[in-house]
Amino acid sequence: MEVSICKGFILPLLTIVLFISLSQTATAANEAYTNFIKTKCNVTTYISLCQKTLIPYASSVKTNSTKLCKAALDVTIKGAKNTSTTVSTLKKQKGITRIEASIIKDCIEDVKDAVYELKQAVDAMGHLGDKDKEFQLANAKTYASSVITDADSCTDGFSGRKVNPTVKKMINSSMANITKLASNALALINHLF
Ligand SMILES: *[C@@H]1O[C@H](CO)[C@@H](O)[C@H](O)[C@H]1NC(C)=O
Ligand SMILES: *[C@@H]1O[C@H](CO)[C@@H](O)[C@H](O)[C@H]1NC(C)=O
Ligand SMILES: *[C@@H]1O[C@H](CO)[C@@H](O)[C@H](O)[C@H]1NC(C)=O
Ligand SMILES: *[C@@H]1O[C@H](CO)[C@@H](O)[C@H](O)[C@H]1NC(C)=O
Ligand SMILES: *[C@@H]1O[C@H](CO)[C@@H](O)[C@H](O)[C@H]1NC(C)=O
Repeated sequence: MEVSICKGFILPLLTIVLFISLSQTATAANEAYTNFIKTKCNVTTYISLCQKTLIPYASSVKTNSTKLCKAALDVTIKGAKNTSTTVSTLKKQKGITRIEASIIKDCIEDVKDAVYELKQAVDAMGHLGDKDKEFQLANAKTYASSVITDADSCTDGFSGRKVNPTVKKMINSSMANITKLASNALALINHLF
C-alpha cells in the first residue's frame, strides 16, 4: 500500500524534475551556442548584421566554426537571391529608361555570378577535411571575395551614365547588402584557423 502511494507520487515528481533539468540544460546550451556566434562575429566589419543574420542558425551551428562559415555563405546566397528579385522588379517599373534597363540587366547578371561563386565557396568549405585542405580554403576565400567584386561591378555601371537617383539608390542599397553579408562571411572564413 505504502509503496504504491510512493510510486504514485514519486513518478510524476521525477518526471517534472527531469523535465526541468533537461530544459535548463537545453537553455544553457542554446545560450552557449548564441555566445559562440556573438564572439565569432566580433571579427567581422558588420558585427550587428552578423549577429542578426547568424544567431537564427545557433542550434544547428552549435560551436562548429566551419558550419558557421557555411551558414554565413547561405545567408549571403539568400540575400543575393532576394536582391535579384528586388532589382528585377525595378526593371519592370514604368519610366525605366533604356540605359537604366541595360544597367539593371547587367546587375542581375552580376548577382547571378555572385550566387554561383557563393555556391562554389560552400562547396569548397565542404572539402576542408580533404588532403588538399589549404587549396580548398584558398578557393573559398577567392570565391567569397569575388562576390564583393561582382557587387561593385554592378554599381560601377552607373558611373558617368544618366540614372534616376531613386533607381540608383535602390540598386545601391541592394548591392550594399550583398557586399556586407559577403564581407562578413569572408572575415569568418579568414579567421577559421
Ligand atoms: C568583442 O570585442 C570587444 C572589443 O575587442 C570586446 O570588448 C567584447 O567583449 C567582444 N565581444 C564578444 C562577444 O566577444
Ligand atoms: C564541423 O562540421 C563539419 C561539417 O560542416 C564537419 O565536417 C566537422 O567535422 C565538424 N567539426 C567538428 C569539430 O565537429
Ligand atoms: C528582401 O528584400 C526586401 C526589400 O526589397 C526586404 O524588405 C527584405 O527584408 C529582404 N529580405 C531579406 C531576407 O533580406
Ligand atoms: C552607392 O554606394 C557606394 C558604396 O557602395 C557609395 O559610395 C555611393 O555614394 C552610393 N551612391 C548612392 C547614390 O547611393
Ligand atoms: C538589406 O538588408 C536589410 C537587413 O538585412 C533589409 O532590412 C533591407 O530591406 C535590405 N535591403 C534591400 C534593398 O534588400
